[in-house]
Amino acid sequence: ETGAITLDPGYKNTGACESEITFLNGEEGILRYRGYSIEDLASKSNFIEVSYLLIFGELPTAAELEKFEKTIKKYTLVNEEMKNIIDGFPKTAHPMGVLASLTSALTAFNPKAVDVSNEKDMYEAICKTIAKFLVIATWTYRKAMGYPLNYYDNAQGYVENFMQLMFALPTDKYKADPVVVGALDKLFILHADHEQNCSTSTVRMVGSSHASLFASISAGVSALWGPLHGGANQAVLEMLEEIQNNGGDVEKYIAKAKDKDDSFRLMGFGHRVYKNFDPRAKIIKKAADDVLGALGVEDPILDIAKKLEQAALEDEYFKSRNLYPNVDFYSGIIYRAMGIPTQMFTVLFAIGRLPGWIAQWKEMRLRNEPIGRPRQVYIGENLRDFKAINER
Ligand code: SDX
Repeated sequence: ETGAITLDPGYKNTGACESEITFLNGEEGILRYRGYSIEDLASKSNFIEVSYLLIFGELPTAAELEKFEKTIKKYTLVNEEMKNIIDGFPKTAHPMGVLASLTSALTAFNPKAVDVSNEKDMYEAICKTIAKFLVIATWTYRKAMGYPLNYYDNAQGYVENFMQLMFALPTDKYKADPVVVGALDKLFILHADHEQNCSTSTVRMVGSSHASLFASISAGVSALWGPLHGGANQAVLEMLEEIQNNGGDVEKYIAKAKDKDDSFRLMGFGHRVYKNFDPRAKIIKKAADDVLGALGVEDPILDIAKKLEQAALEDEYFKSRNLYPNVDFYSGIIYRAMGIPTQMFTVLFAIGRLPGWIAQWKEMRLRNEPIGRPRQVYIGENLRDFKAINER
């Protein structure tokens, strides 16, 4: 029977589904959401509008966008009992672990499964997820700082709310810097979907058993946390800070990354699909210069990143393997300039990726995809007789 099975670890050559949501061309570095180029969307659209596009398939009319924003605002108050859950975590808990737990805990307060065949039910559940995820995503930082948990302010926009949920204090009036809000909005757009990446495939896999939307998103958060995936944006900054502490010697780290006996990898470099520049990395690299300039931030880490990139792009090992900077290489430098702590970087990736996860989950359910259940090639023991313990 194993003759019928094609082994494909990591699914490098397996198409898991048909999808109308995102188009990637790894050779040419092309990324489109529902046919619109990422360059166009990043410069002309905004994150809530792009979320609508990904989830419902079309750019919203003014009336559709207004209804979408209004419906999200219906759900921005998180059940106060959720605070008992976050209070149970130590202050040192990693934000991604807390976010995965709190997202799954939302099921406890929304036990009724989404009826995907009921358009209104699906629409309300989508808006509820977008609303509550943003609020709970900021809670770990607030607890770690000993700050009170903030509430969403329905008088402000979604991205402004991320900043006030994170940084507003009862003692002072808070207003997010428009430069920061504009840059974050663009970064969230660039992270919004990326076809069948590890965390999205996880959301689809979990959802294929008809587990709830919150449970599926929670699984996606856990998959994204890994340093080979979304967790790379935190790992990049830790790597750059280590290089800085070692006198900025990028060549030493290039050599480490090439050394087969050393498990060290150049974080923020390489990609399963892009064998050319990640188009998002290009936009983010430019945004890093613009945002740090606008904020008047001089960060030597940015210069180290550019030196490291240059050294890698000129190195045969990286060139021969088509290794280029990916979405995670420069994003953390912008987050850092905004005053966002490194441990929160992957949480920002999750906030950006949420609409993509929702869109892909919805498509999978509406297309009645079968439950995910791959096979294997068995290489274990043949049949053998049981041995009593005194015979072992
Ligand atoms: C994201 O899939 C997505 O779309 C993900 C994502 C999204 O939007 O959802 O784009 C977001 O996760 C971006 C990637 C973030 N991860 C990192 O930056 C971590 C560092 N990069 C890698 O570990 C790696 O490049 C991956 C995980 C991104 C891709 O791994 P693959 O496709 O399984 O490639 P591989 O591990 O088989 O590597 C191929 C070769 C190997 O060398 P050889 O065995 O052929 O000699 O390239 C080498 C690897 O050792 N290599 C690296 C390297 N990445 C690959 N060597 C040094 N440094 C690196 N970063």
